[in-house]
Amino acid sequence: MRNIVISLGGSILIPTLEQNRISRYVPVLRAIAEHHRLFVVVGGGGAARDYIEAARKLGVDEATSDEIGILVTRLNATLLIAALGDAVYPKVAENHAEAKKFAESKKIVIMGGITPGQTTDAVAAVLAELVRASVFINVTSVNGIYDKDPKKHNGAKRFETITPQQLLNIVSQIGLGAGSNNVLDIIAARIVERSHIPLVVLDGTEPENLKNAILKGTFTGTIVSENNKNPLPL
Ligand code: UTP
Repeated sequence: MRNIVISLGGSILIPTLEQNRISRYVPVLRAIAEHHRLFVVVGGGGAARDYIEAARKLGVDEATSDEIGILVTRLNATLLIAALGDAVYPKVAENHAEAKKFAESKKIVIMGGITPGQTTDAVAAVLAELVRASVFINVTSVNGIYDKDPKKHNGAKRFETITPQQLLNIVSQIGLGAGSNNVLDIIAARIVERSHIPLVVLDGTEPENLKNAILKGTFTGTIVSENNKNPLPL
């Protein structure tokens, strides 16, 4: 049984409340948790972006907008907990120490955001370091890391494997405002570099992709590691 930390982007799990993928992720997360100890950090998705936009229009500062975003991530996390039932620890961990404590229950542990100035990717990267995860998986809406934003540039090229240093170079070109939309935030990238924990970035539009990646090692995505080795399957 290995420790696995997943950053489950809100734009994947709950892009909108009407079009959420929670019911499709429940069996996937349950199946993985039969084999491994699972920590899932849930993002804010469309609702966080809507709230942050509304706050900005009211002239609210960035840090307060972040606090609002954090509340939305925790609301999303609460919805996932409710849907997972007895497979999961029944409370959103509000800091990393709590997440470690909750893991003693041997159930899936769910977190949202914790502190302004970052995203849930950074929460997940630190958690991966703290629980000595075998792999950190970022489930997002693109099938890996590209040299440019693939949604804006036609000729963007996807990397199969990159080093943590290359990852840092790529993400440091992108800004960090509340609700900013990147494949991974720079704090997360720094933690990935220092922790030496392999990161896999994959497309979670199809929830089965996550299960196949972890349990079978089949996926399309980008592996970030120093030795270019695929950490999956586990
Ligand atoms: P997300 O982690 O969801 O950011 O947090 P995101 O990059 O928009 O990811 P997707 O769309 O869910 O995949 C939403 C917002 O909440 C605040 C930030 O403003 C972030 O943009 N937040 C979240 C924090 O300030 N701190 C945290 O620890 C987490």
